Amino acid sequence: MSYLVAANWKMNKTVGETLEYLDLFLPSVKELTKVEIMIAPPFTALSSASIRLDAARKEGEYNVKLGAQNMFYEEKGAFTGEISPLMLSELEVDYVIIGHSERRHKFGEKDSLINKKVISAVEHGIRPILCVGETLEEREQGKTLSVVERQIRSGLSGVERDMIYIDIAYEPVWAIGTGVNATPEQAQEVHRFIRSLINEISKGNDSKTRILYGGSVNEKNARELIKEKNIDGFLVGTASLDPERFYRIITEVMEV
Ligand code: PGA
Repeated sequence: MSYLVAANWKMNKTVGETLEYLDLFLPSVKELTKVEIMIAPPFTALSSASIRLDAARKEGEYNVKLGAQNMFYEEKGAFTGEISPLMLSELEVDYVIIGHSERRHKFGEKDSLINKKVISAVEHGIRPILCVGETLEEREQGKTLSVVERQIRSGLSGVERDMIYIDIAYEPVWAIGTGVNATPEQAQEVHRFIRSLINEISKGNDSKTRILYGGSVNEKNARELIKEKNIDGFLVGTASLDPERFYRIITEVMEV
């Protein structure tokens, strides 16, 4: 299982800015090995990014994967403003981030909706990255593991035997975009718990499932975090917006 380092650009970058970024970034990772890299631009830039990444692959450059930041679970219909798995598949999207804390807390997505999206992504051959994590209040009340367990059990309901097609991202809400990352010990405690949980629910069929850490990952803290046994990569927001900083995070992961 190779490490996965994924960029979540959120609501940042126009098409022009996406292409500028890829022109700088793709040559820099040309020689790298060992690490899987994914970039999730906004929906509007997916098509252009897809064409650019495809061209890079054909030229023998690094096989950078494409991700979407969200999707709806139906294939088509009267769902104004939503994007379907078929639309993503057409653009050769490899990954989809599901249940990001901003979707949960700013847009009110519930576990049941997130579960439908995970099932649909798996059915359409798009690898979901299911995001879970506690708020500061929940941590202070000692509920971290129970919240994560609920999010995982319900997010994966019905696809327990398909764990090899799914990745998980542990992203404590209090660490996202705050500059305060979880310590390696805090992250390890939850990652170890998630690993045993998915091992139990998948009946050991989780050998390809990576557990990423997300929340204020940067080029300075990446190395100490990735050294932890159950941390299999990162989901990076702010620091991924700069191609040089994202590159440095990837090289830190490669050193391990
Ligand atoms: P951050 O975001 O790196 O800016 O904390 C991570 C994420 O939300 O995926």
